[in-house]
Amino acid sequence: MPKVFIIFYSLYYHVYTLAQHVQKGLESQGIEVELYQVPETLDDAILEKMHAPAKPDVPVITVDKLKEADGFLFGLPTRFGIFPSQFKSFLDATGGLWSSGALAGKFAGTFFSTASQHGGQETTALTAVTYFAHHGINYVPFGFANAHLFDNSEVVGGSAYGAGTVANGDGSRQPSQKELEIAVTQGENFGKLLVTFHRGQSKLASTENGAAKKQEIVKPDATPATNGDASKKREVKSTPKKQEESKNKCFCM
Ligand SMILES: Cc1cc2nc3c(=O)[nH]c(=O)nc-3n(C[C@H](O)[C@H](O)[C@H](O)COP(=O)(O)O)c2cc1C
Repeated sequence: MPKVFIIFYSLYYHVYTLAQHVQKGLESQGIEVELYQVPETLDDAILEKMHAPAKPDVPVITVDKLKEADGFLFGLPTRFGIFPSQFKSFLDATGGLWSSGALAGKFAGTFFSTASQHGGQETTALTAVTYFAHHGINYVPFGFANAHLFDNSEVVGGSAYGAGTVANGDGSRQPSQKELEIAVTQGENFGKLLVTFHRGQSKLASTENGAAKKQEIVKPDATPATNGDASKKREVKSTPKKQEESKNKCFCM
């Protein structure tokens, strides 16, 4: 069965609670799920000033680990309308995976927490999407797959970009029943998509004569093309050895 990593950052547990409900939805579809958090970049003194409780008992993800999953659901608490710098630090370390196309063809979705209803859940999604585009990861929006998203009779976090909760400025509001149900639906739908894709891949892999016909994603070539003719690679006036050395010095770790 496909494997999905739920990767989150959560200072006050709202995103973590949503993550656990997204997990339920995924598992209901038979998906193998692993929960991870991104590394903290703030020091303990700052965290104390922010009244942050101890971190959830969840392992910290490493860059290389990303290769193992078929899909990712990223839990993003909003910071000034975008996702937190802890996530950026982690994703900025994925240059090596980008240059080898290691994540190309995988799937990703997003879910959120903001202090207020208008604090930027959608802008958080849209500013995260650039990472998926550059990696060739397929971004899976949520749509309005759960009817609670149409409910204007009470505060309901989330949007077409994923489940969400509204935490209040002091973190006092906890994810509501409706928000948790939306999170479960997101997990279910993401799981269904991955199961369908996985089954299709397996079917393609088995032909009548048994020859492997699995469709492989064409991986990117990090060498930029020349002006005008995209089929030609840029001519670099240096020896292959120098090219290799300079490649090693670029941001592709
Ligand atoms: C530095 C900082 C910036 C924040 N920026 C926003 C923001 O732009 N919009 C918003 O609604 N909430 C903002 N918040 C509130 C967080 O989004 C909120 O604490 C978080 O969603 C709670 O999730 P958690 O319990 O999983 O940490 C900010 C919080 C911090 C610490």
